[in-house]
Amino acid sequence: MSTEQDEIIRAVSQDANLGSYEEARRTFSWTDAEKHFTWHTTGKLNMAYEAIDRHAEAGLRHKAALLYSDATRSETVTYGEMRDRSNRFGNVLRKLGVQKGDRVFIFMPRSPELYYALLGTIKIGAIVGPLFEAFMEQAVRDRLEDSEAVAIVTTPALLPRVPVADLPHLKHVILVGDGIEAGPGQADFHAEMGQASDQLDIEWVDREDGLILHYTSGSTGKPKGVFHAHNAMIQHYYTGKIVLDLKADDIYWCTADPGWVTGTSYGVFAPWLNGATNVIRGGRFKPQDWYATLESNKVTVWYSAPTSFRMLMSAGDDIVEQFDLSSLRHVLSVGEPLNPEVIRWGMHVYKQRIHDTWWMTETGGQLICNYPSMDIRPGSMGKPIPGTDAAIVDDEGNVLPPKRMGNLAIKTPWPSMMRKIWNNPSKYEEYFRLQGWYVSGDSAYMDEDGYFWFQGRVDDVINTSGERVGPFEVESKLVEHPAVAEAGVIGKPDPLRGEIIKAFVSLRDGIEPSDELKADIAKFVKEGLAAHAAPREIEFKDKLPKTRSGKIMRRVLKAWELGLPTGDLSTIED
Ligand code: WTA
Repeated sequence: MSTEQDEIIRAVSQDANLGSYEEARRTFSWTDAEKHFTWHTTGKLNMAYEAIDRHAEAGLRHKAALLYSDATRSETVTYGEMRDRSNRFGNVLRKLGVQKGDRVFIFMPRSPELYYALLGTIKIGAIVGPLFEAFMEQAVRDRLEDSEAVAIVTTPALLPRVPVADLPHLKHVILVGDGIEAGPGQADFHAEMGQASDQLDIEWVDREDGLILHYTSGSTGKPKGVFHAHNAMIQHYYTGKIVLDLKADDIYWCTADPGWVTGTSYGVFAPWLNGATNVIRGGRFKPQDWYATLESNKVTVWYSAPTSFRMLMSAGDDIVEQFDLSSLRHVLSVGEPLNPEVIRWGMHVYKQRIHDTWWMTETGGQLICNYPSMDIRPGSMGKPIPGTDAAIVDDEGNVLPPKRMGNLAIKTPWPSMMRKIWNNPSKYEEYFRLQGWYVSGDSAYMDEDGYFWFQGRVDDVINTSGERVGPFEVESKLVEHPAVAEAGVIGKPDPLRGEIIKAFVSLRDGIEPSDELKADIAKFVKEGLAAHAAPREIEFKDKLPKTRSGKIMRRVLKAWELGLPTGDLSTIED
């Protein structure tokens, strides 16, 4: 760790919004930050109003809010148009009888319509649940069932993955596409939008009212619904300012899909609360497309993820030279450990320091970051944002001194902290089991200068290409395959993806192992759950290590994989 720590990349930015980090830590208060919002005096509060309408009313009506492009479409949507179209969608939902607090899911590929629907849902006080388009039936079912969603916005292509008949609460399916023939319980998005008024009585909510539900994975059980409140806007606005360093003339691109928290907190809320122009690129990752997106939109601030940077790196420096990326002034990363070599490469090809940021679905917003005005120590996630405290604590909640590894914990509360786990108060309380601390599940250490260094997960959660996958979900799907008796799933270190999913599988009696069977099992998970959740490697075993109570011991599987000692096996079955 010492050689890494010796490397310091000096801050160059003189005009960062934060000013000096130390000064901001001394003087900043969340109560002051709140005063940015008019609801502070009017009491009229709604995230979508603050993100869009407020700017439209303040003279930015003709300013581009959204620069959307994919392989077949290229569109600019102004703040005024965004206001009107999200108003229309709010009216569409009201006409269907959707009410404040109801859950409305959005399950579709990125497109301007997705953003109208998301903001319109929020405007009427309903809680939006974004679903990643790659989810297959089981993943969609689990989330709609748990949240008791009343409506879903989707496309005809994705509709077969929504088990409507099995979901008694789901009353409305709103279909986005051309030539929709809406059946019973269905509505045609474009037709309804065309008839709806662009004037809407916004539902003014309480700051603690529900905003968004993001399902995420733990190491046990089904995915959990992380519930965030409108209050999160304070942190989204503030971190947009000091971490993303957004200014009025910025053109900002966050590459994350809104199915994941980065794609909403920093793909929707932070940029629009700050009145920036937000770039959205639809379609799949392709280095050429990504560079073309940076070039043609003249992106100034770019937020992406280590796996993407590593893929761009492996695509070669020659490609970079074919594009003019001189508009870029600030580049950031989130989701997984950012390799020092990626930072060095970014300095070389983009002439930019890549700033790592750390946070989680549960935290709602950035917490530990490298600021534009701060020196970077490659490999470190940075320091806690002003207004928050982070520490490394032991399993009793005692704060450990610098350089000691332990649980990365955040002092509660902060504005964008999750407010509950949907339907699961005991899961929620687990995070706060150490008095006054939120326990992240990551292990880390802090150096003597207060920089935090990520070391790994404490639990079995897998991080593959920056996407969080719960081993339990994958195992549950695997054992549904007719050939599989038992399955244990781990993350195996991978140079490109951070980790890949590896499954250890024991077969039912009389089934012969083969490569075809491996491929078939992987396909089964891909088509049942999601492509990113399918094991890239499968190993057959006669028996899997289990505790006496029958739980698969993933830590033993991991030790096998890494060639490490298996440790204490006293609880093992035989
Ligand atoms: C990991 C994504 C290392 C971490 C916003 C965390 C990171 C989990 C970093 C949350 C980082 C996130 N360095 N690891 N800068 N940022 N992680 O909920 O393990 O999808 O607990 O939120 O990603 O993933 P989630």
